[in-house]
Amino acid sequence: MSSSEQIASTSFKAPDSSRLQLNEQGKLRHFLTTDGLSAAVLTEIMDVAESFSSVSDQAVKKVPLLRGKTIVNLFFENSTRTRTTFDLAAKRLSADVINLNIATSAAAKGESILDTIRNLEAMQADMFVIRHADSGAAHFIARHVAPHVSVINAGDGRHAHPTQAMLDMFTIRQVKGDVRGLKVAIIGDVLHSRVARSQIHALNTLGAEEVRVIAPKTLLPSNTNALGAHVYGDLASGLADIDVIIMLRLQRERMRGALLPSEHEYFECFGLTEKKLAYAKPDVMVMHPGPINRGIEMDAAVADGPHSVILQQVTNGIAVRMAVMALCMGHNAAGKQG
Ligand code: NCD
Repeated sequence: MSSSEQIASTSFKAPDSSRLQLNEQGKLRHFLTTDGLSAAVLTEIMDVAESFSSVSDQAVKKVPLLRGKTIVNLFFENSTRTRTTFDLAAKRLSADVINLNIATSAAAKGESILDTIRNLEAMQADMFVIRHADSGAAHFIARHVAPHVSVINAGDGRHAHPTQAMLDMFTIRQVKGDVRGLKVAIIGDVLHSRVARSQIHALNTLGAEEVRVIAPKTLLPSNTNALGAHVYGDLASGLADIDVIIMLRLQRERMRGALLPSEHEYFECFGLTEKKLAYAKPDVMVMHPGPINRGIEMDAAVADGPHSVILQQVTNGIAVRMAVMALCMGHNAAGKQG
C-alpha cells in the first residue's frame, strides 16, 4: 500500500455517525466513535461509569442490570486489556457473554462477517462488541443489525477506539477533577493510532484547553490539524505547560516500509524519561493505553513512577465499559431504566 493510500484509509469517516449511534430520544444505541457525539452524551458515560466504580470493590462483584441479555465479543484482532475488561464488564452486569474464538470459528472457514452476525442474531444476541483490523467494520455491522441489537466498537483499524478514549477521559476527570481547561499532549505513533483519533475528538468536545500531538513527521497523518490538535516536533517545546501526557505505542504491525530510523533513536527523541517529564507541569499525569514497549516509548521509571496512572486506566476500563453497555441497553444508572 502506498503512503497516500495509507492516509486515505486512516481518514475513514462515517457520514451518519451521530445519527447511527443515537436513538430517536437522542440516547446511545451503538457506540462506534467519539466523533460527533455531544459533551452531554460523553459526560453521561462518565457519570454512569462513576456509579459502577464501586461494584468491582464489592464482595459480590455484580449488579443484575443486564440479566437475561446476551453479549457476543467478536475480536478479529489480538487484545488483552480490552477483551478482558469487556468480558468482565458484561459479567459484572450479569449478562450472558460469549467470547467467540475467531481462529476456531466459521469465519476461519470463509464465512462473511455479516453471515456470522446473522447467525448470532438468530441465537438472540442483544449486543456485539467488535474489534476488527478494517476501519469502518463496526459501522458496517451497526448498519445491518436488527433494531433491538447494539454494536460497540472495540477498535476498528486506525479509525476509532471510543471506549478506550472514554476510560481515558474518565481517568483524567478522576485525577484532575475536570477535562475542561487542561493542556494535553499525545506523543508518538498518531498515524496508526485509533486511540489518538478518539481521544482528540473527546478532549475537544469535553473542553480541553489545548490538545497537542508530538511525533516525528513520518508518524503523523496529513490531517492532524483538521483533527483538532497542534503539532509539535520535539518534547522540550511540546511538553511546556502540559497537564496530561498520553503515550502511544509504536504500532509496528500497521507500519509499511521504514517510517523510523531505529527504535533507539526514537527513544532518544520521543521516549519519555524522568528528565523529560520535567518539561511538563510538576503535577503532570502520564497515561498509556497499553501494551507498553518499555525502553521504546517510555522507560520503566516513568511507567511505574508516581506520575503514572496506567494501571488506574485498566481498572477504569471495566466501569466505563459497563456504563457503555448499560446505556446502549437503555439503562442510565445502576438499576434505573432510562
Ligand atoms: C490499543 C489498541 O488496540 O488500539 N490498545 C488497547 O486497546 N488497550 C493501542 C495499541 O494497541 O497500541
